[in-house]
Amino acid sequence: MSSILLILQKRIVSLAVLCCLLFVAETALAQITVYSGRNRALVEPLVDRFQAETGITVRVRYGGTTQLAVAILEEGRRSPADVFWSQDAGALGALHNGDMLLALPDSLTQALPPQFRNSAGSWISTSARARVLAYNTKQISAEELPASVYDLTKPEWRGKVGWAPANASFQSFVTAMRALDGEEKTRQWLEDMRRNGAIAYNNNNSILQAIEAGEVLVGLTNHYYIDRALGSNTNYPIWFAFFDAGDSGNLINIAGMGIVAPSRRVEQATRFIHFMIQEEAQQFFRDSTFEYPVTTGLAPGYRLIEDVLELAPEIDLDLLEDLDGTLRLLRQTGLL
Ligand SMILES: [Fe+2]
Repeated sequence: MSSILLILQKRIVSLAVLCCLLFVAETALAQITVYSGRNRALVEPLVDRFQAETGITVRVRYGGTTQLAVAILEEGRRSPADVFWSQDAGALGALHNGDMLLALPDSLTQALPPQFRNSAGSWISTSARARVLAYNTKQISAEELPASVYDLTKPEWRGKVGWAPANASFQSFVTAMRALDGEEKTRQWLEDMRRNGAIAYNNNNSILQAIEAGEVLVGLTNHYYIDRALGSNTNYPIWFAFFDAGDSGNLINIAGMGIVAPSRRVEQATRFIHFMIQEEAQQFFRDSTFEYPVTTGLAPGYRLIEDVLELAPEIDLDLLEDLDGTLRLLRQTGLL
């Protein structure tokens, strides 16, 4: 009798232990780690909503996009990251080429136009931004603007162009130019721009201030800086234009996400990424950053994202990975 009781007791204990282990495993599975190169103000509100809706806990490690991509590559199979949220395509390309991203399910990749994901389907965009030419509307009309970014080296633009060679978005654009038009043509353009008196500013906001102050007539920047500065000021003297369709100067870059290869929480990570391309999140990005949504139907009123995509050059965004080559070129041409 007592031996039967003992066996029963043991069984109950082991059952309890098993339940406990299952519970712990379950909790661990209901938690994902996101490495985010996007800043906290932009990520936290959405993470909170995702957690409340799904019960999945999200731990976020914030940092610079490049720094986090390097960290994941160094951590390799031991990386605790489930999702990498990048500010630009280049860092995602680096992880893809380093075999550190999983192929995403069709439910994610097929939700977006092909320009907003890499061809291998290992990352997708969460929002987009376009390179544009900002100009002073009181001093020049849209019809007088150049057809190509390469025209800015002509004598009529001497000393009239502002740019920001140290800015990450500018550097991504130069990387795209190298991929699209070749190393030599890009080097020549950089040298010709410098010789033509292009004025270097620290960042995109300073370019806009210089245009407003009449220091320069036009400037190479991202579209959303103008929208932000415009706000409700109908007298704001700056607007922007694209170059002719397909011009390298019209690059569309993205912020995007992929699932880090060693992740054992693929399902939860997939749900997280899916959440970020749904209407609520897309609207949030548009309203707080003025970037373009990547799903259709939510583009800012003045231009539909479909139109912008037609203007953008066709490029495999994984190629934006080669930032080192761009930095080298900018140093060689005396711009950094
Ligand atoms: Fe920016």
